[in-house]
Amino acid sequence: MYHVLSAHQFDRQQLDELFKTAEIMEFNARKGGLNLLGGKIMAALFFEPSTRTRFSFESAMMRLGGTVISTENAAQFSSAIKGETLEDSIRVISSYADVIVMRHNEVGAAMRAAKVATVPVINAGDGAGEHPTQSLLDLYTIQKELGRVDGLKVAMVGDLTYGRTVHSLAYLLAKYQGVKLYFVAPESCPIPEKVKAFLDEKGVEYFEETDLEKVAEIVDVLYMTRIQKERFPTQSDYERAAGVYKIDPPLLDRMKSNSIILHPLPRAGEIAPEVDDDPRAAYFRQAKNGVYIRMALLAYCLEEGMVSRDTTALESL
Ligand code: CP
Repeated sequence: MYHVLSAHQFDRQQLDELFKTAEIMEFNARKGGLNLLGGKIMAALFFEPSTRTRFSFESAMMRLGGTVISTENAAQFSSAIKGETLEDSIRVISSYADVIVMRHNEVGAAMRAAKVATVPVINAGDGAGEHPTQSLLDLYTIQKELGRVDGLKVAMVGDLTYGRTVHSLAYLLAKYQGVKLYFVAPESCPIPEKVKAFLDEKGVEYFEETDLEKVAEIVDVLYMTRIQKERFPTQSDYERAAGVYKIDPPLLDRMKSNSIILHPLPRAGEIAPEVDDDPRAAYFRQAKNGVYIRMALLAYCLEEGMVSRDTTALESL
């Protein structure tokens, strides 16, 4: 594996291998880590805020014996503020680090970075585009919690237009057999046509619903997302979407006893805190899995051979 730019680049065999490696990483992390990447440096280049992605990547690198270089809020405190292009920053950082983990506000920024980087680039979220490493840990969590992915009914709820985690997860779930997707979004942030076109092409069954109570009764996975204030064009667009859907104890009562609730987090009121103690609330376990998946990804990225370094091939996915 070289760059990690999109959920599209993974096939089933790679996903199975990655998840097996993540299990091994979890075992090793519990024992204090291992020195697989001793002497290697990871640059954390975050142009947008992050808690989970950044800390879990940093934790993952350190648990593998590597070190991390970073700047607080790259949009403000890197030379981007002086007008340096993303490409120039990446060219330079490539000579300081062995892998670059980058979050950026623009769709396609990770691909732009990968085109000029001389080290692997990992997309830690590109605007409203994709968040492939989040979707990998989401899928890993589903498999770990429910024992399978094939044949599951998965609902995605909330900000489906700008929710990059949802886009990447839909792309990954399309690689499994018999998965049914239920999209539940406020009117102003539906699932994008691009995602639906992809699902149509792959023959994945999906439904656009408005009644969360009805959907909650039938699904195995309820994947909730935050209405992302920072991505809506206007305050009134945001206000029309905020608070429309919420998971609270009455909704929980309707859910199947063997279902799970996931959320990429952070949350902003769409899951009531009273839900947290229910065993079906898997979102904090999900966040923890991020360390193991990212340990596996870092190990793969710093090894040769699994996926082409050729960004032209990745662009056509
Ligand atoms: N899930 C996720 O991307 O969280 P952060 O924004 O805290 O990294």
